[in-house]
Amino acid sequence: MQRVSCKILAVSVILFGISLFYLTRKQMSSSDAVVSQDYDYIHISHKDMTWKSDDDDVSEVQQNDDYYGVMFDAGSTGSRVHVFHFQETPQGIPPILISEVFNFTNLPLAQYADNPSEGAASLKVLLNVALQSIPSSHWSTTPVALKATAGLRLIPEKKAKALLDEVYSLFKSSLLHVETPEATVDIMNGTDEGIFMWVTVNFLNGALISSTPETRGTLDMGGGSTQVTFLPQIEETLSHHIHGNYIKTYPFLHHNYKLYTKSFLGLGLKAARLEILKREKENPIFVGSSDIDQLSAGPEEFASTCLPPFTSGTWDFGGNTYSVSSSNLHSENMYANCLSVVKAFIEDTVIVPSEMQESSSFYALSYFWERAAEIKKVDWKKGGMMLVKDYREAAINVCFNHTMYADKPFHCMDLVYLSSVLSHGYRFRDDVKLLMTNTIDDFNVSWALGATLELLRTHWENMKKL
Ligand SMILES: *[C@@H]1O[C@H](CO)[C@@H](O)[C@H](O)[C@H]1NC(C)=O
Ligand SMILES: *[C@@H]1O[C@H](CO)[C@@H](O)[C@H](O)[C@H]1NC(C)=O
Ligand SMILES: *[C@@H]1O[C@H](CO)[C@@H](O)[C@H](O)[C@H]1NC(C)=O
Ligand SMILES: *[C@@H]1O[C@H](CO)[C@@H](O)[C@H](O)[C@H]1NC(C)=O
Repeated sequence: MQRVSCKILAVSVILFGISLFYLTRKQMSSSDAVVSQDYDYIHISHKDMTWKSDDDDVSEVQQNDDYYGVMFDAGSTGSRVHVFHFQETPQGIPPILISEVFNFTNLPLAQYADNPSEGAASLKVLLNVALQSIPSSHWSTTPVALKATAGLRLIPEKKAKALLDEVYSLFKSSLLHVETPEATVDIMNGTDEGIFMWVTVNFLNGALISSTPETRGTLDMGGGSTQVTFLPQIEETLSHHIHGNYIKTYPFLHHNYKLYTKSFLGLGLKAARLEILKREKENPIFVGSSDIDQLSAGPEEFASTCLPPFTSGTWDFGGNTYSVSSSNLHSENMYANCLSVVKAFIEDTVIVPSEMQESSSFYALSYFWERAAEIKKVDWKKGGMMLVKDYREAAINVCFNHTMYADKPFHCMDLVYLSSVLSHGYRFRDDVKLLMTNTIDDFNVSWALGATLELLRTHWENMKKL
């Protein structure tokens, strides 16, 4: 039986104390910089907050205690490890996230479907990186977990389970702390992913530590799926006959957040490309685009009005190779033609609460940010703010000026798609402001931090029960 150390108890007191809060870092320089153009846009600044405690128990907390959490991400392109280092601070001042160590391999766990023990062994090198980043005195109190995304969802359930069982045994035999199998190894669905992403950004920007939380929603755009998560402000969203089904309660510190979270499988950027190509093939908008003769051999062929004139080549996605070409003779109407295909697709598929339309309190992450950074609309490091109409103008510009992006033939399609998701899917008004970023306070934004906070919470709750 695990011994309950004073330290762990003290830490749990900190976490569950009524008026103790988290702080992400002492200086909030970079997250302030992101929004400096637009002051009322962010209302939480740690610098101006005073931290106080009315819980006497915290006097037992040792000062400057370090603690850690280790999260593995088994993705479809490889495995990653995130080691988060937190630190206790003197009484009345919340613990802070000090650093993150990150490492990866290009060996997807799903690749070992027929050899689970080798699959688990492929994580050993990352486990060693984790152990090396944590003082050995803290190994036995540091929880470790693995969450798998899309890749593992695609292999038969039995094989996925065998893999996860092996990973659990590996963790058990490591010197780190291991919770129950359910809390330690699992396959995440879009709901979890959306919520953990929301927790990550609202932890990093300080909203979750505020006694009057002013949280921001998250728009996540992956390759296969896309997620939207936010804290509804109007009762109608919670009780709506459809939207109400997407409300999940998430406990964090002294709040129970009732979040709206919805994941659209097949609406990730790469999956959407394929859907757009397929729709054009079924329903060509030009006579020209149906001219392709599909030969029995060779990759499936697509022609698209979203690709610049004279483009032709192959494209790999989801283990298949496709042959793609442009159906445009010139680029004048490329944006408008592409939009008509994309818009129909999105309007059919995306249904979300109407309260999003006017809300300037969303982060647009991952591919939303990445494409905007690639065309220099926001800073690679700091991100930036964009209006919904700026995003559309960027799409128009890229489609029209496609020769400037000759090495990125999908840029027009991608930007039309992303812009259309904002305007025709989520139906944001043109003057809605979106924060595009990949980092907050110099920390990478990913679901891993949110998942680690949840793991630590489970860990400490179980410790209290012992
Ligand atoms: C953050 O992301 C960048 C780019 O994806 C990567 O190079 C870097 O290693 C990441 N850092 C951490 C701490 O995850
Ligand atoms: C991963 O760990 C290895 C070994 O410690 C190190 O050489 C490499 O730089 C690390 N990679 C990243 C992305 O941090
Ligand atoms: C996703 O998994 C969580 C538990 O991990 C569950 O509560 C939720 O209902 C699942 N969502 C979907 C859409 O399957
Ligand atoms: C194309 O690029 C030029 C030069 O950057 C710019 O002036 C023009 O407005 C762009 N065209 C469109 C349609 O955005």
